[in-house]
Amino acid sequence: MKFLIVGDIVGRSGLDRLKVELEKRKDNVDFIIVNGENSASGKGLRTKEYEEIMSYGADVITMGNHMYYRKEMASEYSKLPRLLIPANLTNLDGNKSIIIEKNGVKVGVVNLLGSFGMGDMIEKNLDNPFEVIDSIINSFKEQGTDYIFVDFHAEATAEKIAMGYNLEDKVSCVFGTHTHVQTADEKILDTGMAYITDVGMTGPAESVLGLKKEIAVHRFKTGEWTHYECSTNKAIFNAVEIEYDDNTKKAISIKRINE
Ligand SMILES: [Fe+2]
Ligand SMILES: [Fe+2]
Repeated sequence: MKFLIVGDIVGRSGLDRLKVELEKRKDNVDFIIVNGENSASGKGLRTKEYEEIMSYGADVITMGNHMYYRKEMASEYSKLPRLLIPANLTNLDGNKSIIIEKNGVKVGVVNLLGSFGMGDMIEKNLDNPFEVIDSIINSFKEQGTDYIFVDFHAEATAEKIAMGYNLEDKVSCVFGTHTHVQTADEKILDTGMAYITDVGMTGPAESVLGLKKEIAVHRFKTGEWTHYECSTNKAIFNAVEIEYDDNTKKAISIKRINE
């Protein structure tokens, strides 16, 4: 079974690039996970971006710290059946895990937020991801999942690597999101779990993580926190493709895509 995981979609150019790439690739993969936390002009996701990403062929959309940028969405997330909100957030309603059955195979997906560098508002409403994940995995296993994917949306490289080893014999894949820069450390552990510290972003290539480069430079040069504007520059496509042995359910290959 082949999975495609796409890094944080940023703004209009990211959505446009996603459309082109999924059209090209969706028939060659069995399951697609897209991180959509920056699809609404860099900040969060609205119902219309949810519908757009789903229409391109995503099976599940994961999120992250940008959940809070769209206050009007707080009561809407739970109405979006294939959207996952971080499972360790304590003050938001929505799906905290999902099992999707496709072609007779059950895939469990969960999204978690890291504990460091996410800002006060997130950190005061967050349970320890290392504690929360165990009961979710148990529940997935009780329900007979064949594959389990963990999107660990975190800032600290060490926290992500530690989560990988924490789950090395329990899940099919731990992949990181949030930093918007793809890491070159994709691997398959001896246990057959696939891992990458960060998938990267699908969004404006000439930007600072999606922010217009001129604004980012100005901010750093002057210390003035000027208004956020999402870049509209042409998007890069960052993803990983992972193939598993259908019998053992262990990963056979993991390939980074950075185009
Ligand atoms: Fe992001
Ligand atoms: Fe993020």
